[in-house]
This record gives sequence, C-alpha cells and structure tokens, in this order.
Amino acid sequence: MGPVTKENPRILVFDSGLGGLTVFRAIRALLPGADYLYLADDARFPYGALAPDALIDGVLDVIGAAIADFPADCVVIACNTASTLVLPALRARFTMPIVGTVPAIKPAAAATKSGLIAVLATPGTVSRDYTAELIRDFAQGVAVTLVGSKALAGLAERALRGETVADADILTEIGPCFVEQDGRRTDHVVLACTHYPLLLDRLQALAPWPVEWIDPAPAIARRVAQVLAREARGEGMFAAHSTKAGTNSALLAVATRILALPA
Ligand code: DGL
Repeated sequence: MGPVTKENPRILVFDSGLGGLTVFRAIRALLPGADYLYLADDARFPYGALAPDALIDGVLDVIGAAIADFPADCVVIACNTASTLVLPALRARFTMPIVGTVPAIKPAAAATKSGLIAVLATPGTVSRDYTAELIRDFAQGVAVTLVGSKALAGLAERALRGETVADADILTEIGPCFVEQDGRRTDHVVLACTHYPLLLDRLQALAPWPVEWIDPAPAIARRVAQVLAREARGEGMFAAHSTKAGTNSALLAVATRILALPA
C-alpha cells in the first residue's frame, strides 16, 4: 500500500456484505491511486429481506458514521437492494457525489437476440418501483423474467469464506431465470445483486444453456472515474470496516483476496 496523501481522492464503497467487493475490484483497477474504505453492513446482512423504512434509516446512519471518519469525495452504493431505494435520501442528506448500482436492464434489453432476458436479484430489488420503471423505460418489447432469490447472496458469502456450497442449492436459485418460449430461450441474465459475480464460475457451469451474465461493475467504475474531479498518482491505500463487531480483520483478508483477482 502507498502512503495516504492529501491529494488522493477518497472513495467509500458500501454494501450489505461482501458483494460490493466485486464493484470495489473494478473501481480500484481503474483508479488505483485513490484511497478506499470498504464498508460492509454485515450486522444487518442480508438486505434482501429488510423492510424499506428500516433499510433507508440504517443506510443513512451507517454512511453518516463512516464519512465522519473518512470524508469521502465519492460514495459508491455497491448494492442494488439499497440503491433502488435509498439513493434519493442519501443525495438529500450528503453533498458528495453518490454513485449507485442498479439492475443493468438497459444493456441486456439492447443486446438480447431472443427477446427473453432475466433479472436475478434479491426479493427486495425485484419488488421495487425503480426496477419496474427500468423495465418500462428500457425493455419495451422484451420479455423480462424477474427472479427474486432469497438465498443466493448468502450462498455467495459462504462460498467466499471457503464453505462448501452444493451445486443443487445454486441451481435452485438460478433455475427460474432460464425460460424457453416459442422456440426461443433466455440469452441474457442481469446479475442485479453485487454478490452474484462472486459465483460467476459456478453460474456459468450450472446454467442449463450458455447465456451472457451481465455484471455492472466495469460500468460503475467508469462512472466513478467520471464524477471524481481529481486524479492520483501511485497506489492508494485501502481499509475495510464491518458493522459487525470483531470481523474487521476477516473482512480485510477477504477484500485483499478479491482485489488480487482480475477485475
Ligand atoms: N449485494 C446486495 C445487492 O446488490 C444484496 C445482498 C443482500 O441481500 O444484502 O443487492
């Protein structure tokens, strides 16, 4: 790690747990000179099942506490479940640029050849008005299958921690994405939860037929680079903080491992 300098832009990357590391990896590959804090709200993971009010209040509190110590130049909400709900409240409360992560329905709808796409997300994300509006605005004429998975984010965390996760358990979660209709098949699956790219190899191997899995992380990284006014030289530092007591060093170890993989 390089030294922390006043010139380095500071970027806070936030998720309910480990999923945002897939976004962090892409941002850091593009902007290695920034200083980063990766913030995981592990104490309240998973967000997929949280009631909207509890989710909004909790995210405002956690982000507010983090930026009191780490005055970020940009906050990245690397969580679809939070972004599809909390972005307006965050932007009303905080003045720095806030970059969200929302389901990549637009590129999938533009790229599909079969006219059948699926959005794989948490139950929270598939139920949001925001997601319905993305479909209405960008997927006219495309059949969109919304798949709300209760378990997949948790399975991704378990796999990342080295626990055994059975193929059958993953297949149960992703199976509904694969639709055959009038001789056509789903050809794009939007990974609309940042945890899912952690399982990409398994998803590809278990898919009943090959599809494009759309991971929004590179696009989010480009957006962060656009909104940051400053550039930095050399390599910045990163720290990790978990809202669950006693887990910071485990989080830092996982983050270090993910950052070492190609973005
Ligand atoms: N990583 C989060 C997302 O992108 C969700 C995981 C959770 O349920 O907390 O939606």
